Amino acid sequence: LSHITKNTTFVIAGASGDLAKKLLFPALFTLFRRGYLPQPTYIVGYARSKIDHDTFIAQVTANIKDPGNDPDFVAQLDGYKSILSYQAGSYDDGTKYDELDKYLQSLEANFPGEERNRIFYLALPSAVFVEVAKNFREHVYSKSGSNRLVVEKPIGNDLDSAQQMVHDIAKFWMEDETFRIDHYLGKEIVKNILVLRWANGFTSGFWDSDRISNVQITLNESFGTEGRGGYFDSAGIIRDVIQNHLAQIFSILAMERPATLSPKNVIDEKGGYTDDDGVPKDSTTATYAASVLWVNNKRWEGVPFILKAGKALNESIVEIRIQFKDAPKGLYDDDISRSELIMRLQPGEAIFLKLNIKTPGFESGVVSTEMKLNYKETFPSAFIPAAYEVLVRDVLNGDHSTFVRDDELVAAWKIFTPILHWTDGKDGEPKPVPTKYKYGSRGPNGLDDFLAKYGYKA
Ligand code: BG6
Repeated sequence: LSHITKNTTFVIAGASGDLAKKLLFPALFTLFRRGYLPQPTYIVGYARSKIDHDTFIAQVTANIKDPGNDPDFVAQLDGYKSILSYQAGSYDDGTKYDELDKYLQSLEANFPGEERNRIFYLALPSAVFVEVAKNFREHVYSKSGSNRLVVEKPIGNDLDSAQQMVHDIAKFWMEDETFRIDHYLGKEIVKNILVLRWANGFTSGFWDSDRISNVQITLNESFGTEGRGGYFDSAGIIRDVIQNHLAQIFSILAMERPATLSPKNVIDEKGGYTDDDGVPKDSTTATYAASVLWVNNKRWEGVPFILKAGKALNESIVEIRIQFKDAPKGLYDDDISRSELIMRLQPGEAIFLKLNIKTPGFESGVVSTEMKLNYKETFPSAFIPAAYEVLVRDVLNGDHSTFVRDDELVAAWKIFTPILHWTDGKDGEPKPVPTKYKYGSRGPNGLDDFLAKYGYKA
């Protein structure tokens, strides 16, 4: 796929929704001011609300904050506003899409040359994905340039429905044109895993069951489901973040070395784990779940991957924790800590190596300490883009490596569907009773026992 460098209209369906306002429009602004949008670009909001231009602009720029240290900020924001506009329409009426097409053509009349690239971003409830994708393809598709469709989660709510939706969208959009977002793939530390694994001579020597005892991937949030209770209630934590975000991280940690860094090679290897029987072993409530996956290959024999996530906990932290096996016994106390490699996605990107050293001074004991790489300290002037900034740029560049391919999506649903059907109480089984936990606590009682059972040593 080619890089789109010019003549682009970027259509956002669902432009008055939360995702668009909070994440997408601010991300596009950052790309605009840093010069990463094609020249020229027009961004067109499309939604059902009949709002006027000024209301629209006020809505979609409300979340853009002046950093206070850039004299050009106001001018840049004005420049950004001048490429934004809104078209009210409907999601099911073809004539409205024809009107949108005419409107895009009127904007494109300002473009030099013949090339007309169009991006269609579905920031919408998934119930209308197929219909909108079809209408964009049939009524608004550009005949003289690239067309790209960007789809948000959730795609399906179990294996069958996900396969159905992939199939229905594929009737209108080729896989190459389709970009399925998992915004965790745009996070700096997630993108760093491949580099850490294969740009260092020593890492491959310990990335397996000879050295690793267990791996934990944790997504804890200190807030509840405020304002999203309706959606969340029908989804639950497994669908919300484990089946997608944590499963993606799991596959990058567990994959074999790709032949090259091309999206195809990388995704082929990530998907390779699906040939193995991932066995979710345990899971619980709508708002907290811990599950264990095993990878049935030589590299990962006997190494549990613990994926856990929860809302309304004592702290917000997202991290990957690779815990190594005990050091050989005999020389030091048998209960010395295990070494760990910790990659913290947020808050504050960081990589830690927890290791034992001699207690400093006359002491002869062993003390556990950390080697820390804190991004803010090590790269004080680096611009670390937000996930949506990375992803929108990758859509423009036609780079699929930070997106979810159809077979990966299906594979992730395959792993989690049995457990989801169980927690949903399908197939005649009674719905399991979740363990309650207090808002602001560490999670349900039993978590520590669960971790210990799978070999984690605090
Ligand atoms: C979203 C979930 O996909 O990811 C939310 O729907 C969750 O419930 C969010 O809070 C977490 O993303 P981030 O980038 O804030 O860690």
